[in-house]
Amino acid sequence: MKKIGVKISVFMMLSCLLVLAACGNKEEKSSTDGNEKGKTLIAGTNAAFAPFEYMDKGKVTGFDVDLVEAVAKEAGYKVEVKHEGWDAMLANLQSKQSDLAIAGITMNDERKKTYDFTKPYFEATNMIVVKKESDIKNALDLKDKKIGVQNGTTGQEAAEKILGNNNGNIAKYKNITIAFMALKNNEVDAVVIDNVVGNEYVKNNPKENLKVVMDKENFDSEFYGMAFPKGSKLTKEFDQAFQKMIDNGTYAEIYKKWFKEEPDMESLKKAEK
Ligand code: ARG
Repeated sequence: MKKIGVKISVFMMLSCLLVLAACGNKEEKSSTDGNEKGKTLIAGTNAAFAPFEYMDKGKVTGFDVDLVEAVAKEAGYKVEVKHEGWDAMLANLQSKQSDLAIAGITMNDERKKTYDFTKPYFEATNMIVVKKESDIKNALDLKDKKIGVQNGTTGQEAAEKILGNNNGNIAKYKNITIAFMALKNNEVDAVVIDNVVGNEYVKNNPKENLKVVMDKENFDSEFYGMAFPKGSKLTKEFDQAFQKMIDNGTYAEIYKKWFKEEPDMESLKKAEK
């Protein structure tokens, strides 16, 4: 009788310890391969890309932030969106210091070699932003001009397609805010940038006397996706959660909040592979 009592209490003590150990683990913020439901994932971003991500009173805000929070929740996770900067964001993703990245990241073949992506969540294209008095009317007019881009983006690629790789007339900046500053100070004649972000900047900075130039012939259609380290199990979980949000209208709601119009689901669907 006594022996059994001792055995039971040892057993109970051990199980208590196990439970405590499990609880301790749960609190920890991990940034590995995820898939422990309920934990807080780290999503890297470059919060100088309004309206997708920007700093507002010290907090990262924007369409991407609302979207990733909703998708994470649907998938059973919490998420902390961290402003890391473009290059750091990509490096942290590759080294798995973050679980994912969301930053208006265009999915292309080059990046697909290094990262896994969800299905497309936004369609975009590059555009040109110039001073109102500029005579630039399309992408080909950029040939002998100085162009500002964000380093390592599709804006840089689009400019290189016209001016050639390593052309000294392409000024590559760490973020798009600095590129716009260069345009303001006439250090460059134009900025090549994602259309929605260019439009937003021109609208928000009327004193800078800017206008936008679209050129659908020379600038391709691009699709944004959420990016994960290669092989992350989260990609599929996020994809399924995202699909649920498309089906139940949550995606359209978030889209309308930021862009004041319905998303073009057909074109997003067509871009899925
Ligand atoms: N869509 C472009 C690209 O993927 C630019 C993205 C820049 N995003 C940002 N948050 N600064 O290359």
